Order: sequence, then structure tokens, then C-alpha cells
Amino acid sequence: MQKPFPARTQVAIVGAGPAGLTLSHLLHLSGIDSVVIESRSREDVESTLRAGVLEQGTIDLLCAIGAGDRMLREGVLHHGIELRFGGRSHRIPLSELAGGRAIMLYAQHEVIRDLVRVRLAAGGTVVFDATQASIHDIDGPRPAVRFRHGGHEHRIDCDFVVGCDGFHGVSRESVPVAARTEYTHTYPFAWFGLLVNAPRYSPELIYARHERGFSLVSTRSESVQRLYLQCDPSDAVDQWPDERIWAELDRRLETTDGHGLSRGGIFQKGVVQMRSFVCEPMRFGALFLAGDAAHIVPPTGAKGLNLAVADVQLLATAFAAYYGDDDRAGLDTYSAEALERVWAVQHFSWWMTTLLHRFGNVDPLEERLQRAQLEEIVASVPLQTSLAERYVGRPLKGRVPRARLPATAIALDA
Ligand code: FAD
Ligand code: DHB
Repeated sequence: MQKPFPARTQVAIVGAGPAGLTLSHLLHLSGIDSVVIESRSREDVESTLRAGVLEQGTIDLLCAIGAGDRMLREGVLHHGIELRFGGRSHRIPLSELAGGRAIMLYAQHEVIRDLVRVRLAAGGTVVFDATQASIHDIDGPRPAVRFRHGGHEHRIDCDFVVGCDGFHGVSRESVPVAARTEYTHTYPFAWFGLLVNAPRYSPELIYARHERGFSLVSTRSESVQRLYLQCDPSDAVDQWPDERIWAELDRRLETTDGHGLSRGGIFQKGVVQMRSFVCEPMRFGALFLAGDAAHIVPPTGAKGLNLAVADVQLLATAFAAYYGDDDRAGLDTYSAEALERVWAVQHFSWWMTTLLHRFGNVDPLEERLQRAQLEEIVASVPLQTSLAERYVGRPLKGRVPRARLPATAIALDA
């Protein structure tokens, strides 16, 4: 049953993804009211498959706000990744090189389930199935969000609106074109993602570069594995029957010792488009943008969700200073501060993508350049350290205590 929603709140949040839900709970913990308006159903939001890698800062924040218990029990902490090329794997010891920081493999929809539960348990208002949202008066005295729900029109007045409604949402589009600058790049390839019933293939993620294209071995649990392979952006799912997938993965992941993947039942397939995108600035009057509403990274660096969480941590700190101490400085600097991290992460994601994918037709020069760079990385501790620090992510702004990770979570390569 949908909880009745108020006619007024302090912060109206559009979108119940990782950004919107985390922000709403952070605000609640600072005594600030918010309402989250989400176009999809709760079931849909809680079951959409997306990310899997959480940075140390995201792990810490989820634990600090009381949404990390199940993640600590069911997620798996990783302390390294493998780069595979030329038939050989090379381990990058992330934690060793990045001050003990690690990553957690825990699916995004599980994070969403945990956040929704925590929000509702704290009496929070999340309006699911709220369609036709529109944002009003962000430059005037009565900012508001309007939407349809249960066959009726609704309006919620507020002090501020935060657009956390992803790349295709309404928030960014509510800002006049002349008031924003958008930077965009679409890659000439996509990822074919699949879920497979099989035992874990590898104790750590494998990022593989191959003449035939990129592939990635990830995991969801002891018995469910997540695999991706570079494909054409125009490919349809039915162009990839199981046999073609396995044959391609075998070739791209081949090692000189003949190691291959065991076949399992593939039960989910989808094509993910790859884009780099930034909208500047991330604030327009009373409207703030956070997460994918403001920026998209190609998934190679596993950064999108983590960047969304970093945005809202910064914004929540600014709202706390505003409502607690009448201090506007954080709100005024939010866009510039957030964009600094955004561009650094954009660069890392673009760099990882460029390093590991095949661009267009086979180009022997490009191939040799990628190989040369990969060889240089695996031979150099400073280059590996730079990769490790950027992969596990910068610490979040503000005082987020380091999560106490149970010994059971420090699993595979201990
Ligand atoms: P979203 O998750 O897109 O949430 C936006 C919400 O707003 C949605 O629930 C949507 O229904 C709602 N909405 C949209 N329009 C409206 C509207 N008009 N009115 C109301 N509600 C609306 N990131 C990582 O950090 N690590 C990874 O390992 C990783 N892997 C990925 C793998 C894949 C295959 C993909 C596709 C993405 C991956 N990402 C990863 C990126 C990550 O999933 C996104 O960056 C993240 O979901 C962004 O969160 P968000 O809250 O900003 O937006
Ligand atoms: C996963 C997704 C990524 O984008 C990535 O770089 C690594 C892992 C995943 O879904 O498991």
C-alpha cells in the first residue's frame, strides 16, 4: 500500500535508483524531509539488472547509513583483478597497492532492495508508479514536482528538487538548453551481458583484451556468474545463440595453458550501449542533478553507481549545512566539486575502455599500441598503483567511517 504523501517537503527527489534512495536516507539521518518520486513499480526497480562492483567508499557509506548488513553477509570482497592479454593473466593487487582499500561484488538491484527497505522502515516516502513527472519553478519562489499517481494529478511543493532520474529522466531536460553544456561520446561497440548458472570461474574479475574484442568475467554468487563480451551496438539478443557466445568467450579468454570456461545454463541476456556523457553545470537554481542524470561512463571502469553515490554524499553534506547552520556554501560549490570527481572518473573509464576494446576493424597499429601499454602496466608498480587507486576509488568527501568488514567477507584470495 502506498503511504499517503505530503503536499510539501524540503527536498523532492526524482528517481529511486542508487542516487535518489541514498540521498533520501542521508537527508533523513540529518533530520531533513524528502519525498522520492519514481516512475516504475517497486518490483521493477528492485529487479533491474545492472552494476556489480562497489568501491570501498560506497561500501563504507552503505554501512554507515545502516544499509550494509546484507551486503556484508552476501557480497564478496575482492582484493585484486586480473588483466588478461596475449594468452596470459596478470594480477593487479588492488588492496596491496591502494592502502588496503577493496571492492565488493554485490548486485545493484540488491543494493536497491536494501535501500528501499531501510527507507521504508524509517518512515520514508517513496512514491512508486508515479508517471509523467514534471519539474516547476526552479528559478522562482515555489519549486515543485507534479506527477500522476493512482489516476490523479499531484503536486509536491519543496525548497529544492534533486534530479536522480538517470540518463533518460526529465530533470536534465527541464533545464533550458542554453543553460547547460553537454559533452558526449558514443562508442562504436556495446557489451553483451549474460547471467549463467555455473560455479565461480575465477576468484577475481578478469578484464580480457583480445584481437576479437573485449570480454569480462565477473560473478554474482557461488552458483551464478556474470559475463560480458564486446559486441556490435546494433546486435540483437537473438543474434547471440548460446553456442556462439561460448565459442566467442573461449577464443577471447584463451590462455596459453588451455584454461577455458565450463558451460552453464545462460538464463539472462542483454545488450548494454556504451557512452561517455557529462552535463555542466550540475545545478540550475533550485534544481540539482546527481548520478546518471548528469553523467554516464562506459562500464569498463565499474564506476557509474559509485559516482552516483559520491554525488549524493556531497549534496547531502551541503543540505545538512544549509538546513542546520544556514550555510549555503556547500550548495553553491556542489556542481564544481562534484564535476571534479566526475571528470577524473570519466577519464579513467574512457582510458580503461580504450585500453581493452577493439575499435572498428582490426587495426594492427592499434593492437600493438594497446599491447605495449598493457605490457608497460604489468611491468610497472607505479602504473599498477595508479590503476588500483582509481579502480577502488577515491575516498568520499566528509567523515564516512571505514566499514568493519567481517572476516567471512574477506574471502577468496586471503
Ligand atoms: P538509475 O539507476 O538510472 O536510477 C534512475 C531512476 O529514476 C530509475 O529507477 C528510473 O526508473 C527513475 N526515473 C527515470 N525517469 C523518471 C521520471 N521521469 N520520473 C520518475 N522516475 C524516473 N556502475 C558501477 O558503479 N559499478 C558497476 O559494476 C557497473 N556496472 C554496470 C553494468 C551495466 C551492464 C550497466 C548498464 C551499468 C553499470 N553501472 C555500473 C552503472 C550503474 O548501473 C549506473 O551508473 C547507476 O544505476 C546510476 O544510478 P542513478 O541512481 O544515478 O540512476
Ligand atoms: C561488472 C560490471 C562492470 O561494469 C565491471 O567493470 C565489472 C563487473 C558486473 O556487473 O559484475
